Amino acid sequence: MSQPDTPHKPANVLTTTAGNPVPDNQNSLSAGPRGPLLLQDVHLVEKLAHQNRERIPERVVHAKGWGAYGTLSITGDISRYTRAKALQPGAKTPMIARFSTVAGELGAADAERDVRGFALKFYTEEGNWDLVGNNTPVFFIRDPLKFPDFIRTQKRHPRTNLRSPTAMWDFWSLSPESLHQVTTLFSDRGLPTDVRHINGYGSHTYSLINAEGERVWVKFHFKTQQGHQHWTNDQAVEVVGKTRESTQEDLYAAIENGDYPRWTVQVQVMTDAQADEWSARTGWNPFDLTKVWPHGDFPVIEIGVLELHRNPDNYFAEIEQVAMSPSNIVPGIGFSPDKMLQGRIFSYADAHRYRLGTHYEALPVNAPRCPVHHYHKDGAMRFFEPRTGNVDAYYEPNSVGGPKEAPRYAEPPLPLHGDADRFSHRDGNDDYTQPGNLFRLFDDAQKQRLFDNLAAAMQGVPETILRRQIAHFSRCDPAYGAGVARALKLDPIGDDRVKGTSATDQPDEVGVG
Ligand code: HEM
Repeated sequence: MSQPDTPHKPANVLTTTAGNPVPDNQNSLSAGPRGPLLLQDVHLVEKLAHQNRERIPERVVHAKGWGAYGTLSITGDISRYTRAKALQPGAKTPMIARFSTVAGELGAADAERDVRGFALKFYTEEGNWDLVGNNTPVFFIRDPLKFPDFIRTQKRHPRTNLRSPTAMWDFWSLSPESLHQVTTLFSDRGLPTDVRHINGYGSHTYSLINAEGERVWVKFHFKTQQGHQHWTNDQAVEVVGKTRESTQEDLYAAIENGDYPRWTVQVQVMTDAQADEWSARTGWNPFDLTKVWPHGDFPVIEIGVLELHRNPDNYFAEIEQVAMSPSNIVPGIGFSPDKMLQGRIFSYADAHRYRLGTHYEALPVNAPRCPVHHYHKDGAMRFFEPRTGNVDAYYEPNSVGGPKEAPRYAEPPLPLHGDADRFSHRDGNDDYTQPGNLFRLFDDAQKQRLFDNLAAAMQGVPETILRRQIAHFSRCDPAYGAGVARALKLDPIGDDRVKGTSATDQPDEVGVG
């Protein structure tokens, strides 16, 4: 923002950060024309010191990203399920989206085969609601205890400092719950041309709570109106040879040109009674992040449109510093027993405190667009006014009219059952039917690309690991295992424990174009 002129300092005079006018921004202060330099050149010292502090830790995952601002417009009516104001018919909520790849570092090339992050922050009048999802409806693991191990296999080997296909396939072949996501990742949808041409999924089961305090379970979906577009591995090699920033270029240019990307917003809803019936019938847990809810059982309900229409002015301030967290929810939207969601409720705000600092929620891009009242106090970069509206209200309870809790926002009680214990998430869990169903939806060309993509990613992996992984593919569908074995030029590997299932009616949740 420009400053008003004063008699002493016109508005466009360069200053130090303390506001002192700078007489020379070209030549350092030296003893004689050939130097050496003088320590009293505070402008030089300040410039060099500031440069040394221009980097913050990159995100431990999802480091490379692209983002823009937009609006969530609600056109459908799900007021019978939720009292969230941002989800009422006619509501329009400003928001910011940050898309990302998962494994690559901050400077990674965009056109890489990887899951795409699809993180949304809605600035609602009831506080920020963050939906931090991916372009896939499922995930690789179902217990957060395994997340750090999983991510290690995606990042660099400690000795070689290279990514290790052996580590990836060792972990995946020992974690069959990953099959659904692995099948998606190595299908066409694992290498999208950009982020305008992907779907987004909240992925987890959340809850919706209505004005009567009744709860239903919900999944959120964002279906691209631009259609799906993918690159083959060979095309991506060419793209990366020309530009490492293909997604940034695409998203930025589309928005600058007024070609605003849009997604149709949908929910699937499940009552408690349906959850019990569905679990009993299928054996699947509605809170298992490695499973989808088939559309035939739980039809999608269209509720609105998400549109992106403004590029940020400063990438660092607005995209690097945006802090998305599944813990940010608003009245009418709640969590679920999903163990992965529960782990993430802790992890993100903790990451932000480390990456951005204690008061990260006060940064302009994260600041709620509604009044904020809390009693948190000092710490580095405490630059905002007291959040209690009264200097004497710095503790609670108080007699000076400070902010108080409001029981009307309480969620209905959630009945919980069972012993506190460590329950195996593998024993008796069907990891094969849903990935098999996804495989069977692919046409022959899609299947062949899946086999080839998998074989390309498995180069150099020891044969024992390959055979273990192929046995899993065969349990999803014998043709799946056989196709991967063929692409790897290994003998066919049979598995007589294959589950005989037919394709389900979930074409848009799975990796078909
Ligand atoms: C980023 C942890 C699973 C989507 C992150 C970050 C952490 C993290 C620490 C970096 C946050 C930051 O520095 O700003 C975890 C843990 C998980 C998990 C512990 C499992 C227990 C998932 C799942 C999804 C997901 C299942 C999607 C459904 C994302 C996205 C970002 C992210 C999109 C980037 C957010 C942004 O653009 O700022 N995750 N994650 N993560 N994660 Fe996860």
